[in-house]
Amino acid sequence: MPAIETQALSKNFGSLRHPLRVVRDLNLTVPAGIVFGCLGPNGAGKTTTIRMLTGVLPASSGRGWVAGEDLRYPDRVKARIGYANQAASIYGDLTIQENLRFKAALFLEPREVTRAIDRVMDQLGLRERRHRLGSQLSGGWRQRLSIANAIVHSPPILFLDEPTAGLDPVGRRDLWDAIYALSAEGTTVFVTTHYMDEAERCQRLAMLANGKVLAEGTPLALRSAVPGNFYDVTTVDLGTSLRQAKAIEQVRDAWITGSSLRVAALSPLTEMTLQELGTSYRQVSPTLEDAFVALAGKDVAR
Ligand SMILES: Nc1ncnc2c1ncn2[C@@H]1O[C@H](COP(=O)(O)OP(=O)(O)O)[C@@H](O)[C@H]1O
Ligand SMILES: [Mg+2]
Repeated sequence: MPAIETQALSKNFGSLRHPLRVVRDLNLTVPAGIVFGCLGPNGAGKTTTIRMLTGVLPASSGRGWVAGEDLRYPDRVKARIGYANQAASIYGDLTIQENLRFKAALFLEPREVTRAIDRVMDQLGLRERRHRLGSQLSGGWRQRLSIANAIVHSPPILFLDEPTAGLDPVGRRDLWDAIYALSAEGTTVFVTTHYMDEAERCQRLAMLANGKVLAEGTPLALRSAVPGNFYDVTTVDLGTSLRQAKAIEQVRDAWITGSSLRVAALSPLTEMTLQELGTSYRQVSPTLEDAFVALAGKDVAR
Protein backbone atom coordinates (compact mmCIF):
# COMPACT_ATOMS: atom_id res chain seq x y z
CA MET A 1 0.00 0.00 0.00
CA PRO A 2 1.40 3.41 -0.90
CA ALA A 3 1.87 5.90 1.94
CA ILE A 4 -0.09 8.54 0.06
CA GLU A 5 -2.45 8.26 -2.88
CA THR A 6 -4.63 10.94 -4.41
CA GLN A 7 -7.14 10.95 -7.24
CA ALA A 8 -7.91 14.29 -8.87
CA LEU A 9 -7.59 16.01 -5.49
CA SER A 10 -8.42 19.69 -5.95
CA LYS A 11 -8.83 22.85 -3.92
CA ASN A 12 -10.58 26.02 -4.94
CA PHE A 13 -10.62 29.27 -3.05
CA GLY A 14 -12.56 32.35 -4.00
CA SER A 15 -16.25 32.32 -4.83
CA LEU A 16 -18.33 29.82 -6.78
CA ARG A 17 -18.53 32.33 -9.61
CA HIS A 18 -14.86 33.18 -9.55
CA PRO A 19 -13.08 30.14 -8.22
CA LEU A 20 -9.37 30.37 -7.66
CA ARG A 21 -8.10 26.91 -8.58
CA VAL A 22 -5.14 26.54 -6.25
CA VAL A 23 -4.63 22.76 -6.55
CA ARG A 24 -5.90 21.10 -9.71
CA ASP A 25 -6.54 17.39 -10.20
CA LEU A 26 -3.62 16.19 -8.16
CA ASN A 27 -2.82 12.52 -8.85
CA LEU A 28 -0.02 11.32 -6.63
CA THR A 29 1.27 7.97 -5.49
CA VAL A 30 3.94 8.13 -2.81
CA PRO A 31 5.52 4.76 -1.97
CA ALA A 32 6.11 4.08 1.71
CA GLY A 33 9.55 4.63 3.20
CA ILE A 34 10.95 7.25 0.84
CA VAL A 35 11.69 10.96 0.97
CA PHE A 36 9.22 12.46 -1.49
CA GLY A 37 9.69 16.06 -2.55
CA CYS A 38 7.18 18.58 -3.80
CA LEU A 39 9.06 21.27 -5.71
CA GLY A 40 7.51 24.51 -6.83
CA PRO A 41 7.83 28.29 -6.69
CA ASN A 42 5.92 30.47 -4.24
CA GLY A 43 2.21 30.25 -4.85
CA ALA A 44 2.42 26.89 -6.65
CA GLY A 45 0.06 25.29 -4.14
CA LYS A 46 2.53 23.34 -1.98
CA THR A 47 1.17 24.41 1.40
CA THR A 48 -2.42 23.93 0.26
CA THR A 49 -1.53 20.41 -0.90
CA ILE A 50 0.07 19.58 2.44
CA ARG A 51 -2.88 21.02 4.33
CA MET A 52 -5.24 18.77 2.39
CA LEU A 53 -3.05 15.68 2.82
CA THR A 54 -2.81 16.26 6.57
CA GLY A 55 -6.56 16.57 6.98
CA VAL A 56 -6.33 20.21 8.02
CA LEU A 57 -8.17 21.53 4.97
CA PRO A 58 -11.04 19.71 3.22
CA ALA A 59 -10.59 19.16 -0.51
CA SER A 60 -13.04 20.80 -2.91
CA SER A 61 -13.17 17.61 -4.98
CA GLY A 62 -11.26 14.43 -5.58
CA ARG A 63 -10.12 11.82 -3.11
CA GLY A 64 -7.07 10.85 -1.14
CA TRP A 65 -5.72 8.22 1.24
CA VAL A 66 -2.90 8.84 3.67
CA ALA A 67 -1.36 6.09 5.80
CA GLY A 68 -4.29 3.90 4.82
CA GLU A 69 -6.90 6.40 5.99
CA ASP A 70 -9.41 8.17 3.79
CA LEU A 71 -9.10 11.98 3.77
CA ARG A 72 -12.87 12.05 4.26
CA TYR A 73 -12.09 11.14 7.87
CA PRO A 74 -9.55 13.83 8.73
CA ASP A 75 -9.30 12.92 12.41
CA ARG A 76 -8.14 9.42 11.55
CA VAL A 77 -5.56 10.86 9.17
CA LYS A 78 -4.29 13.35 11.74
CA ALA A 79 -3.65 10.55 14.23
CA ARG A 80 -1.44 8.73 11.71
CA ILE A 81 0.75 11.60 10.53
CA GLY A 82 3.14 14.24 11.79
CA TYR A 83 3.04 17.76 10.37
CA ALA A 84 5.67 20.44 10.89
CA ASN A 85 4.29 23.56 9.27
CA GLN A 86 5.95 26.80 8.25
CA ALA A 87 4.91 28.65 11.40
CA ALA A 88 6.06 26.01 13.86
CA SER A 89 4.52 26.52 17.26
CA ILE A 90 7.32 26.40 19.76
CA TYR A 91 7.00 27.90 23.22
CA GLY A 92 9.86 30.31 23.73
CA ASP A 93 9.58 30.22 27.51
CA LEU A 94 9.83 26.42 27.67
CA THR A 95 12.98 24.36 27.18
CA ILE A 96 13.30 21.84 24.36
CA GLN A 97 12.46 19.05 26.76
CA GLU A 98 9.48 20.93 28.20
CA ASN A 99 8.17 21.73 24.72
CA LEU A 100 8.33 18.05 23.85
CA ARG A 101 6.73 17.00 27.12
CA PHE A 102 3.88 19.42 26.51
CA LYS A 103 3.25 18.06 23.02
CA ALA A 104 3.66 14.41 24.06
CA ALA A 105 1.18 14.80 26.90
CA LEU A 106 -1.51 15.76 24.39
CA PHE A 107 -1.06 12.57 22.39
CA LEU A 108 0.24 9.85 24.66
CA GLU A 109 -0.54 7.99 27.84
CA PRO A 110 1.40 9.45 30.80
CA ARG A 111 3.59 6.33 31.11
CA GLU A 112 4.63 6.60 27.43
CA VAL A 113 5.72 10.22 27.56
CA THR A 114 9.27 9.96 28.89
CA ARG A 115 10.29 7.19 26.53
CA ALA A 116 8.80 9.02 23.53
CA ILE A 117 10.66 12.23 24.40
CA ASP A 118 13.94 10.36 24.81
CA ARG A 119 13.42 8.70 21.44
CA VAL A 120 12.71 11.88 19.46
CA MET A 121 15.51 13.81 21.19
CA ASP A 122 17.92 11.11 20.01
CA GLN A 123 16.43 11.03 16.51
CA LEU A 124 16.87 14.77 16.05
CA GLY A 125 20.09 15.15 18.05
CA LEU A 126 18.45 17.37 20.66
CA ARG A 127 19.59 15.68 23.85
CA GLU A 128 22.58 17.90 24.60
CA ARG A 129 20.50 21.02 24.18
CA ARG A 130 17.41 19.79 25.98
CA HIS A 131 17.60 22.49 28.66
CA ARG A 132 17.79 25.37 26.16
CA LEU A 133 14.80 27.68 25.98
CA GLY A 134 12.79 27.71 22.77
CA SER A 135 13.42 31.45 22.44
CA GLN A 136 17.20 30.86 22.42
CA LEU A 137 17.27 28.42 19.51
CA SER A 138 18.66 29.22 16.07
CA GLY A 139 16.53 28.52 12.99
CA GLY A 140 17.98 25.06 12.44
CA TRP A 141 17.44 23.93 16.03
CA ARG A 142 13.93 25.37 16.03
CA GLN A 143 13.19 23.27 12.97
CA ARG A 144 14.58 20.17 14.65
CA LEU A 145 12.40 20.82 17.67
CA SER A 146 9.33 21.34 15.52
CA ILE A 147 10.05 18.06 13.68
CA ALA A 148 10.57 16.29 17.01
CA ASN A 149 7.22 17.73 18.15
CA ALA A 150 5.60 16.43 14.98
CA ILE A 151 6.79 12.85 15.43
CA VAL A 152 6.42 12.41 19.16
CA HIS A 153 3.54 9.96 18.58
CA SER A 154 5.63 7.87 16.09
CA PRO A 155 3.59 8.52 12.94
CA PRO A 156 4.50 6.50 9.84
CA ILE A 157 4.34 9.62 7.64
CA LEU A 158 5.88 13.02 8.29
CA PHE A 159 4.93 16.18 6.37
CA LEU A 160 7.45 19.02 6.29
CA ASP A 161 6.52 22.34 4.70
CA GLU A 162 9.64 24.17 3.53
CA PRO A 163 11.64 23.05 6.57
CA THR A 164 14.85 24.71 5.40
CA ALA A 165 13.39 28.13 4.53
CA GLY A 166 15.58 30.79 6.09
CA LEU A 167 18.40 28.43 7.10
CA ASP A 168 22.00 28.99 6.10
CA PRO A 169 23.69 26.38 3.85
CA VAL A 170 25.21 24.45 6.75
CA GLY A 171 21.90 24.45 8.60
CA ARG A 172 20.14 23.22 5.48
CA ARG A 173 22.59 20.38 4.99
CA ASP A 174 22.34 19.33 8.63
CA LEU A 175 18.58 19.34 8.48
CA TRP A 176 18.64 17.13 5.39
CA ASP A 177 20.87 14.70 7.26
CA ALA A 178 18.25 14.60 10.01
CA ILE A 179 15.48 14.04 7.45
CA TYR A 180 17.38 11.11 5.96
CA ALA A 181 18.03 9.65 9.39
CA LEU A 182 14.27 9.60 9.99
CA SER A 183 13.68 8.03 6.60
CA ALA A 184 16.28 5.35 7.32
CA GLU A 185 14.29 4.42 10.41
CA GLY A 186 11.23 3.82 8.23
CA THR A 187 9.34 7.13 8.25
CA THR A 188 7.91 8.26 4.93
CA VAL A 189 8.74 11.94 4.51
CA PHE A 190 6.76 14.31 2.29
CA VAL A 191 8.70 17.55 2.03
CA THR A 192 8.09 20.76 0.10
CA THR A 193 10.77 23.09 -1.14
CA HIS A 194 11.37 25.80 -3.69
CA TYR A 195 15.11 25.05 -3.82
CA MET A 196 16.16 23.07 -6.89
CA ASP A 197 19.26 21.67 -5.15
CA GLU A 198 17.12 20.32 -2.33
CA ALA A 199 14.73 18.66 -4.74
CA GLU A 200 17.76 16.78 -6.06
CA ARG A 201 18.10 15.11 -2.66
CA CYS A 202 14.62 13.58 -2.77
CA GLN A 203 14.18 9.99 -3.91
CA ARG A 204 11.14 10.98 -5.96
CA LEU A 205 9.59 14.33 -6.57
CA ALA A 206 6.64 16.10 -8.08
CA MET A 207 7.15 19.44 -9.79
CA LEU A 208 4.27 21.77 -9.09
CA ALA A 209 3.35 25.03 -10.80
CA ASN A 210 0.06 26.90 -10.72
CA GLY A 211 -1.53 24.09 -8.77
CA LYS A 212 -0.69 21.43 -11.35
CA VAL A 213 1.84 18.63 -11.31
CA LEU A 214 4.14 19.23 -14.28
CA ALA A 215 6.04 15.97 -13.86
CA GLU A 216 6.74 13.29 -11.28
CA GLY A 217 9.60 10.86 -10.92
CA THR A 218 13.15 10.43 -9.70
CA PRO A 219 15.38 13.51 -10.09
CA LEU A 220 17.46 11.60 -12.62
CA ALA A 221 14.44 10.63 -14.71
CA LEU A 222 13.11 14.18 -14.66
CA ARG A 223 16.46 15.59 -15.76
CA SER A 224 16.94 12.93 -18.43
CA ALA A 225 13.56 13.72 -19.96
CA VAL A 226 14.50 17.33 -20.75
CA PRO A 227 14.73 17.81 -24.50
CA GLY A 228 17.52 19.83 -26.04
CA ASN A 229 21.25 20.31 -25.84
CA PHE A 230 22.85 22.19 -22.99
CA TYR A 231 26.22 23.93 -23.05
CA ASP A 232 28.35 25.71 -20.52
CA VAL A 233 30.36 28.46 -22.17
CA THR A 234 33.32 30.23 -20.58
CA THR A 235 33.71 33.79 -21.77
CA VAL A 236 35.42 37.01 -20.74
CA ASP A 237 32.43 39.11 -21.72
CA LEU A 238 29.27 37.54 -20.37
CA GLY A 239 26.98 40.30 -21.59
CA THR A 240 28.10 40.16 -25.21
CA SER A 241 28.12 36.36 -25.28
CA LEU A 242 24.61 36.30 -23.84
CA ARG A 243 23.32 38.58 -26.59
CA GLN A 244 25.14 36.56 -29.24
CA ALA A 245 23.76 33.29 -27.95
CA LYS A 246 20.21 34.56 -27.86
CA ALA A 247 20.48 35.61 -31.48
CA ILE A 248 21.24 32.06 -32.64
CA GLU A 249 18.22 30.49 -34.25
CA GLN A 250 18.33 27.06 -32.57
CA VAL A 251 18.92 28.56 -29.12
CA ARG A 252 15.83 28.23 -26.97
CA ASP A 253 17.29 30.06 -24.00
CA ALA A 254 20.57 31.44 -22.69
CA TRP A 255 21.38 32.73 -19.22
CA ILE A 256 24.28 33.59 -16.97
CA THR A 257 25.13 31.23 -14.10
CA GLY A 258 27.83 32.73 -11.93
CA SER A 259 30.95 32.95 -14.08
CA SER A 260 29.75 31.18 -17.21
CA LEU A 261 27.02 31.24 -19.80
CA ARG A 262 24.47 28.45 -20.10
CA VAL A 263 22.89 27.79 -23.44
CA ALA A 264 19.91 25.56 -24.19
CA ALA A 265 19.53 24.70 -27.85
CA LEU A 266 16.82 22.78 -29.66
CA SER A 267 19.38 20.99 -31.83
CA PRO A 268 23.15 20.50 -31.42
CA LEU A 269 25.20 23.64 -32.05
CA THR A 270 28.23 23.38 -34.32
CA GLU A 271 31.71 23.63 -32.90
CA MET A 272 32.25 26.83 -34.84
CA THR A 273 29.16 28.48 -33.37
CA LEU A 274 30.18 27.50 -29.87
CA GLN A 275 33.77 28.70 -30.33
CA GLU A 276 32.50 32.10 -31.40
CA LEU A 277 30.51 32.40 -28.17
CA GLY A 278 33.47 32.27 -25.80
CA THR A 279 36.92 31.01 -24.98
CA SER A 280 35.83 27.43 -24.24
CA TYR A 281 32.71 25.35 -23.90
CA ARG A 282 31.48 21.95 -22.81
CA GLN A 283 28.24 20.07 -23.26
CA VAL A 284 26.49 19.52 -19.93
CA SER A 285 23.51 17.50 -18.75
CA PRO A 286 20.37 19.37 -17.84
CA THR A 287 19.67 20.29 -14.22
CA LEU A 288 16.35 20.09 -12.40
CA GLU A 289 16.03 23.80 -13.00
CA ASP A 290 16.36 23.16 -16.73
CA ALA A 291 13.67 20.50 -16.40
CA PHE A 292 11.43 22.91 -14.55
CA VAL A 293 11.90 25.68 -17.08
CA ALA A 294 11.32 23.34 -19.99
CA LEU A 295 8.09 22.10 -18.44
CA ALA A 296 6.69 25.28 -16.99
CA GLY A 297 7.84 27.90 -19.45
CA LYS A 298 10.06 30.80 -18.58
CA ASP A 299 7.48 32.96 -16.84
CA VAL A 300 6.79 30.51 -14.02
CA ALA A 301 10.32 29.59 -13.10
CA ARG A 302 11.74 33.08 -12.72
N1 LIG B 1 -7.08 30.55 2.42
C1 LIG B 1 -6.84 31.04 1.20
N2 LIG B 1 -7.72 31.83 0.54
C2 LIG B 1 -7.48 32.28 -0.69
N3 LIG B 1 -6.38 32.01 -1.41
C3 LIG B 1 -5.45 31.23 -0.84
C4 LIG B 1 -5.62 30.70 0.49
N4 LIG B 1 -4.53 29.94 0.79
C5 LIG B 1 -3.72 30.02 -0.28
N5 LIG B 1 -4.26 30.78 -1.26
C6 LIG B 1 -3.66 31.06 -2.58
O1 LIG B 1 -3.36 29.84 -3.18
C7 LIG B 1 -2.16 29.91 -3.92
C8 LIG B 1 -1.22 28.82 -3.48
O2 LIG B 1 -0.83 29.05 -2.16
P1 LIG B 1 0.09 28.05 -1.33
O3 LIG B 1 -0.55 26.71 -1.30
O4 LIG B 1 0.37 28.70 -0.04
O5 LIG B 1 1.39 27.99 -2.25
P2 LIG B 1 2.91 27.65 -1.88
O6 LIG B 1 2.92 26.98 -0.54
O7 LIG B 1 3.38 26.77 -2.98
O8 LIG B 1 3.64 28.95 -1.86
C9 LIG B 1 -1.61 31.30 -3.72
O9 LIG B 1 -1.96 32.07 -4.84
C10 LIG B 1 -2.31 31.77 -2.47
O10 LIG B 1 -2.46 33.16 -2.48
MG1 LIG C 1 3.95 27.42 1.19
